[in-house]
Amino acid sequence: MATSVKTKTLWFCSNCGNEYAKWMGRCPACGEWNTLVEREVVTGGSKAAPMKSAPGGAQKPMRLKDVSTTTEDRISLGSAEVDRLLGGGMVKGSLVLMGGEPGIGKSTLSLQLPLHSPALKTLYVTGEESVKQVKMRADRLGGSADNCLILSETDMTTILKEAEETAPDLMIVDSVQTMYCQHIDSTAGSVSQIKEVAAQLLRFAKSTGVPVILIGHITKEGTIAGPKILEHIVDVVLQFEGENRGAYRVLRSIKNRFGSTSELAVFEMTGTGLREVANPSEMLIPMHEAGLSGTAISAMLDGNRPFLFEVQALVSSAVYGTAQRSATGFDVRRLNMLLAVLERRAGFKLGQKDVFLNMAGGLRITDPACDLAVICAVLSSTFDYPIPADICFAGEVGLSGEIRPVSQAARRAVEAARVGFKRIYVSSYTHFDQKPQGIEVVKVADIPALVRALFK
Ligand code: TYD
Ligand code: MG
Repeated sequence: MATSVKTKTLWFCSNCGNEYAKWMGRCPACGEWNTLVEREVVTGGSKAAPMKSAPGGAQKPMRLKDVSTTTEDRISLGSAEVDRLLGGGMVKGSLVLMGGEPGIGKSTLSLQLPLHSPALKTLYVTGEESVKQVKMRADRLGGSADNCLILSETDMTTILKEAEETAPDLMIVDSVQTMYCQHIDSTAGSVSQIKEVAAQLLRFAKSTGVPVILIGHITKEGTIAGPKILEHIVDVVLQFEGENRGAYRVLRSIKNRFGSTSELAVFEMTGTGLREVANPSEMLIPMHEAGLSGTAISAMLDGNRPFLFEVQALVSSAVYGTAQRSATGFDVRRLNMLLAVLERRAGFKLGQKDVFLNMAGGLRITDPACDLAVICAVLSSTFDYPIPADICFAGEVGLSGEIRPVSQAARRAVEAARVGFKRIYVSSYTHFDQKPQGIEVVKVADIPALVRALFK
């Protein structure tokens, strides 16, 4: 038998997937207790077989100039937003991982895609639901179910055999955590099973040219048990985000071998599935009456698209000894930093105040240009002074209270003007090649200047 194959024992954290040479009571990476599990792993020899022998077998180096650059063959998935996110449709033979918390809409979207692209013969493999359940969901979603094959199965050998026989145009596997390979001696959902399931699907996709969408659950804490360890294997990672209670969900591309990352698509969960929100600006600003304090509109950019949304803050006297700080959809450390800047650089004493911050629509915002709107929402709530409804903001706030320019300010201003805003506050250092039409640009250098301009 093959003598080059050696095995050794490693310890994997079943929560975050990190591996260690010895057992520990607590995983140093994610801090969870009693999550380390023992695994035999094969070193050398056949271990890397799934990846190394991937597409095309043995290859010779070739001159870069001789490599053909004809564009990849892509298929349209029946959702303009998902196609855009993938860089213009799904590349044949690619493996796309769709991650997200339970209940966010992964199964809904992945079933909706084949129903709305009847020309594609799709194989939908579910390890979570029965065929009946899928049918009931499909009935709610509408569309055409003629060309969609459902398989309720968790054994990878059967799945791949069926997939080869059916030869679909698209395959969907829901979810990586429920599938298992017989030759691996651990339960479905364990680190080694997840890796092997993904490796087998990758090999299938590359060798047959069938594009595969693989669904993976993410734990609430954000450390992805499973999908995180797959990110380097798959071609594209799409991540579903949003508050489960809110109607809006954001699908973000965080890795894409065939297109740009940090693109984003907004969906609304309705009674009949996920609806594309092609123009997020108009959806995300609730049409409430003007005159409420504690809200400010940010002109933000996510991926390549400018849109406007509402930041809400509530500042009140602390009931308990220590002030509470809470942020939904925004980094609470960044909020603390902005509050410290307000206190030290502009003299607002917020140390004894509870501050609650909320990004409307359940979005998670990472664009630093949102800082200015956060500061303005906090000040508006502090003074109980409503900011006029036709004003929006785009600026990053630095540690010395200076307001810094943000990328693509002109595009943000143009979008703001298009949605009907009359004035946009930006950094004094913002440079416009061409003055944005239809909107007044107010340039402010620092927080004191902002306060003078806004709350005079
Ligand atoms: P689901 O897609 O099953 O989430 P995941 O696969 O990510 O775990 O379902 C998401 C939620 O959406 C579920 O709680 C029910 C709800 N839902 C609707 O509101 N409308 C619909 O048309 C469907 C199909 C689901
Ligand atoms: Mg599901």
